[in-house]
Amino acid sequence: MRILSGIKPSGTLHIGNYLGMIRPMVQSQARGELFCFIANLHSLTTLFDGPKMAAYSREALIDMMALGIDPEKSVFWLQSDVPEVIELTWYLSNVTPMGLLERCHAYKDAEAKGIPANHGLFSYPVLMAADILLFQSNIVPVGQDQKQHVEVTRDIAGKFNNTYGEAFTLPEPEISEAIATILGIDGQKMSKSYNNTVEIFGDEKAVRKKIMSIVTDAAPVDAPKNPDKSIICSIYKLFASNEQTDEMASRFRAGGYGYGDAKKELFEVLWNYFLPFRQKRGELAANLDYVEEIRKKGAMKAREAAAVTMKRVRELVGVV
Ligand code: ADP
Ligand code: TRP
Repeated sequence: MRILSGIKPSGTLHIGNYLGMIRPMVQSQARGELFCFIANLHSLTTLFDGPKMAAYSREALIDMMALGIDPEKSVFWLQSDVPEVIELTWYLSNVTPMGLLERCHAYKDAEAKGIPANHGLFSYPVLMAADILLFQSNIVPVGQDQKQHVEVTRDIAGKFNNTYGEAFTLPEPEISEAIATILGIDGQKMSKSYNNTVEIFGDEKAVRKKIMSIVTDAAPVDAPKNPDKSIICSIYKLFASNEQTDEMASRFRAGGYGYGDAKKELFEVLWNYFLPFRQKRGELAANLDYVEEIRKKGAMKAREAAAVTMKRVRELVGVV
């Protein structure tokens, strides 16, 4: 079983990204053959700053390795290191109906907001289909927001197979129901667009400040509080043990426990949770030659797998 997932390098990773996408991806290394890549070509639809783009891509490679992607177990690469994906995008484009792309939400949202959409944003689901189909992926774990793109991928694969003959495995999206939307420090969905994130690799002072600024009501220290309505508890329980979670909940209910104290505990738990990852990240950042070597090896392995699909596809479309 081949599991494939991509992460778009578009800024600093936050704990919502970690719980919603990165941790499930890392865990899937235990149950199948993981193909995992940094989708830098996807970032180009909205990021028009070369130096930033290059920096985000490099950071993303290091972050993912630090967070548990194991290049010995998985195929891990930078999307642009496998140029076959662009060639496949073109073949797929020509069997993709316009209507299919017009219904896709990235483009529709841009239109609705009056943001002028470029062709890249419009056709981005075809690039995503190529990412998935090039490697004959069976399962694609994604957030709810990406489910539509995997369905489009199935449609495009079906169209191609019907037009030319069997070339592609139809992938299944896998949405983890367990991980609901992680709340940000203001109580909305945590998202870098809302400026309410807690960074995975932020520095200690900055992370502490973010945690201390989590929105609460004005209940005084003495008052009993409802843990189920607290943003602090909602984040705490994702990183603390069950006992710690129960303990905090009963302190909330009992009263005499202030939000400030709860925030300090949350900070401690979070900071300790990511401690081994920070150490690993530090080691990798000090050894960029090693990161570069992993990147090259990953691209080689990915291109080997891609070559098998491309041989068949080129034959079918008549590019010989
Ligand atoms: P952002 O909203 O910060 O721009 P992205 O859209 O780049 O984040 O997120 C990439 C992936 O990370 C999403 O597809 C989703 O799986 C996961 N993710 C992001 N924010 C959250 C969240 N608040 N809760 C759960 N998962 C999230
Ligand atoms: N579009 C995805 C996102 O914005 C990233 C992505 C690109 C991806 N190609 C993919 C995810 C292929 C899964 C499979 O988050």
